[in-house]
Amino acid sequence: MSNLEFEDKVALVTGAASGIGFAIASLFAQRGAKVALVDRDVDAGQLAAQSICDGGAEAIYIDTDVSNGKQVASAVSQVVAKFGQLDYAVNNAGVAGEMHPVADMPEDEWRRVIDIMLTGVFLGMKYEIPHIIKTKGAIVNTASGVGLVGFAKQAAYTASKHGVLGLTKAAALEYGALGVNINAICPGTARTEMVDNALSQRPELEQDLLALHPIGRIAEPEEIAEAVLWLCSPKASFVSGVALPVDGGYVAQ
Ligand SMILES: NC(=O)c1ccc[n+]([C@@H]2O[C@H](COP(=O)([O-])OP(=O)(O)OC[C@H]3O[C@@H](n4cnc5c(N)ncnc54)[C@H](O)[C@@H]3O)[C@@H](O)[C@H]2O)c1
Repeated sequence: MSNLEFEDKVALVTGAASGIGFAIASLFAQRGAKVALVDRDVDAGQLAAQSICDGGAEAIYIDTDVSNGKQVASAVSQVVAKFGQLDYAVNNAGVAGEMHPVADMPEDEWRRVIDIMLTGVFLGMKYEIPHIIKTKGAIVNTASGVGLVGFAKQAAYTASKHGVLGLTKAAALEYGALGVNINAICPGTARTEMVDNALSQRPELEQDLLALHPIGRIAEPEEIAEAVLWLCSPKASFVSGVALPVDGGYVAQ
């Protein structure tokens, strides 16, 4: 029997042109939601939205840089204009960031990563919340296992993901009583383009990554998506402001 628990609902997912975001948008669509795929990669974003439409669901792609407030505000308005409401938002867009020890980190690189990964989540919530208050829906922000522990040579990425957790907790306190359920996920390593790129530059990383996950493998993006949809569902109605590890035991070690 098909599970259409998100029928008549509308979900916006940033960074949905590939990887974890695409898996989340696809799963929302499979469960009945109309989905807006927000990303700055036009070709991949259009293909991703088309593939969801080909599966029989309603999906649109919106070209947006999540670090640009005007573009984020416009993306949210376009979703509401097209679908009439917004029930769920997943602020997920991200970049891997260059690897440098702190003293060698170029200032521009620090600002680029913080702008996309932390300010991008802030801007998303700023413009999504007024609509989601009306539908009493949910927001999930993608942090990382590296939002809970440190990671050498990735100070900007690590700081941004710790920041996403603080932002998520503050927003959960502000809007939980108004019916907007706000949480974060902390994925371990998932098999996505971001990880494939890192592995192609440093193949020796594969063994290190496996060793970091006590479960003995890295995740498939769909396993992360399942946790996000659970947090959006009524099954998680008393879960607020959490940083949920979905990481094969990475932070349990
Ligand atoms: N893959 C992992 O192992 C892993 C682990 C923990 C956390 N995460 C987090 O999960 C999220 C998704 O990562 P992924 O692995 O699916 O990566 P990915 O590279 O496959 O997808 C990221 C998407 O974000 C988009 N994006 C990047 N910058 C953007 C911007 N400024 N505006 C709009 N879109 C932008 C990209 O175009 C891409 O489609 C990221 O926040 C990442 O930090 C990933």
